[in-house]
Amino acid sequence: MRIFCLLLLVLGEAWSHVTPRPNFVLLMADDLGIGDPGCYGNKTLRTPNIDRLAGGGVKLTQHLAAAPLCTPSRAAFLTGRYPIRSGMAAQNQVGVFIFSASSGGLPPSEITFAKLLKSQGYTTALIGKWHLGTNCHNSSDFCHHPLSHGFDYFHGIPVTNLRDCKPGEGSVFTTAFRLLVFIPLQVLALALLLAGLRWLGLFRVPPALIFSLLFLAALVLGLLLCFLHFRPLNCFLMRNHDITQQPMSYDNLTQRLTADAVRFIQRNAESPFLLVLSFLHVHTALFSSKIFAGKSKHGAYGDATEEMDWSVGQILDVLDELKLANNTLIYFSSDQGAHVEEVTVKGEVHGGSNGIYKGGKATNWEGGIRVPGILRWPGVIQAGLELDAPTSNMDLFPTVANLAGAPLPEDRIIDGRDLMPLLLGQSQRSDHEFLFHYCNFYLNAVRWHPRNSTSIWKAFFFTPKFSPEGANGCFATHVCFCHGHSITHHDPPLLFDISQDPRETDPLTPTSEPRFWEILEVMQQAAARHTRTLQDVPDQLSPGNIIWKPWLQMCCSWSGLSCQCDREKEEGRGSH
Ligand SMILES: *[C@@H]1O[C@H](CO)[C@@H](O)[C@H](O)[C@H]1NC(C)=O
Ligand SMILES: *[C@@H]1O[C@H](CO)[C@@H](O)[C@H](O)[C@H]1NC(C)=O
Ligand SMILES: *[C@@H]1O[C@H](CO)[C@@H](O)[C@H](O)[C@H]1NC(C)=O
Ligand SMILES: *[C@@H]1O[C@H](CO)[C@@H](O)[C@H](O)[C@H]1NC(C)=O
Ligand SMILES: *[C@@H]1O[C@H](CO)[C@@H](O)[C@H](O)[C@H]1NC(C)=O
Repeated sequence: MRIFCLLLLVLGEAWSHVTPRPNFVLLMADDLGIGDPGCYGNKTLRTPNIDRLAGGGVKLTQHLAAAPLCTPSRAAFLTGRYPIRSGMAAQNQVGVFIFSASSGGLPPSEITFAKLLKSQGYTTALIGKWHLGTNCHNSSDFCHHPLSHGFDYFHGIPVTNLRDCKPGEGSVFTTAFRLLVFIPLQVLALALLLAGLRWLGLFRVPPALIFSLLFLAALVLGLLLCFLHFRPLNCFLMRNHDITQQPMSYDNLTQRLTADAVRFIQRNAESPFLLVLSFLHVHTALFSSKIFAGKSKHGAYGDATEEMDWSVGQILDVLDELKLANNTLIYFSSDQGAHVEEVTVKGEVHGGSNGIYKGGKATNWEGGIRVPGILRWPGVIQAGLELDAPTSNMDLFPTVANLAGAPLPEDRIIDGRDLMPLLLGQSQRSDHEFLFHYCNFYLNAVRWHPRNSTSIWKAFFFTPKFSPEGANGCFATHVCFCHGHSITHHDPPLLFDISQDPRETDPLTPTSEPRFWEILEVMQQAAARHTRTLQDVPDQLSPGNIIWKPWLQMCCSWSGLSCQCDREKEEGRGSH
């Protein structure tokens, strides 16, 4: 018996020597379509580094974002849970954060994989885009900030790369201003009309009323002008809790963030680390440095993608140089499909390609959620594999936690599944018999991969109304929405077999699929079982949680009526 134990101990030792806990480098692109990387079939967009990564690892062909929008998808990625469980699924129209000074965000009670790894002695960093909230009550409580969610180091932007951030472009703020400015102007007109009537003696209006209206109009107009004036305040770079550049400059932005990621790896070469490099690319406003601008065959979008690919290459190179490649699990994905409606007023296409798949970002058609998914770990995961089983970006949570030796939290439901059995070839199928596709707060579709069949059923309870009719997206509203007049309900649900019809063009009928009702029955029961596991949690994207709150506005240093600073260079050198 004792000998047996000793043997076990020796074997255990040997195993832990063979596979020490790996480092993790998780690369997340923004709005990149599955039709964009060369390794997924694009012949004209050049992504040699992403292709090199895929060549040395596994390419997932049915890798699914847990939501078709940035904020919920990233919340799910970090926590391994459907975003509805953390309140990161909006009950209203707007499904993402648009202001750095709003109070919603990933609740402090949520557990990210960064938090788990930090507790296992890993050094953790998030470089690039966050988009999961900043503050709750004042401009320095940082309740939703990456540093409050298990990251030791943060360098990047708290929200996302918005058109408003780029001089000469504008959308969120300018659109809101154009929509709202009529309100104070109407009040002003009313006050002037009443004053006129009084002056003509036609109507005895109390002067107090006129003055109150004038005051109200001036106040609202003032606030709106303030809002417009402060729009660059929304776009800033932070290092940990401090603003380093406000407004953010696009000059060599990718180069700066990449260099910082490389420095992080160099600093931590001797001990286990987790790096999440969350690209600002390829979300609009598109940008790229001089070296890449005008070089691709696909305009500004192609330039940005090729610059991002260069950045991936820099990371691969430094891991090779430091001989860390064999001890590092790398993941590359996109937070959702390409934004197909992203076309400029001049008609330039600024959205990517979803390949053969229908729809895009903000929809649960395959184009919105089927994303690139690449994993590489030389010597452990067989190179050159292609896996078709349905997998989710929520799966990274248990995969990373298990490899790092961190116990999974037991007080909550984790929806992701460990990918290692699939990646090691120990299993031919993923553990996801059912996957639930949400559009914001609303259960949009169910995917069923029966254990005894190769079919992959997908049933839609509703679909977005594309506009103009016949288009492949909601061009009239720039994105598709999830409820009300923006959708068509389906009863019975719209059923597809994705394994036969990945383009989702031929919905099945009781005639074309004899087991039609039987299949739907199973899926509806699964949806009901899933729904019963949900708990009521505060909506982090309620109107009150997404509006701009002036008292939450961060400002690095007031100069006159604006905030301006640039401490990027000094601190970049200091962080060696
Ligand atoms: C902001 O809120 C935090 C936590 O509620 C508190 O500790 C801190 O003192 C507040 N800071 C300011 C400047 O009010
Ligand atoms: C950007 O980087 C290039 C190459 O390193 C350099 O030549 C150029 O001066 C940089 N531009 C700015 C604006 O910093
Ligand atoms: C390659 O990507 C570009 C840019 O997104 C796109 O225009 C083109 O259609 C893609 N090609 C294929 C074969 O998907
Ligand atoms: C890394 O692993 C690969 C595949 O097992 C092997 O061929 C290579 O020699 C290893 N490299 C180093 C530096 O150990
Ligand atoms: C698969 O199993 C289900 C019950 O679990 C059964 O109803 C169905 O007929 C089976 N399908 C096939 C193709 O064997």
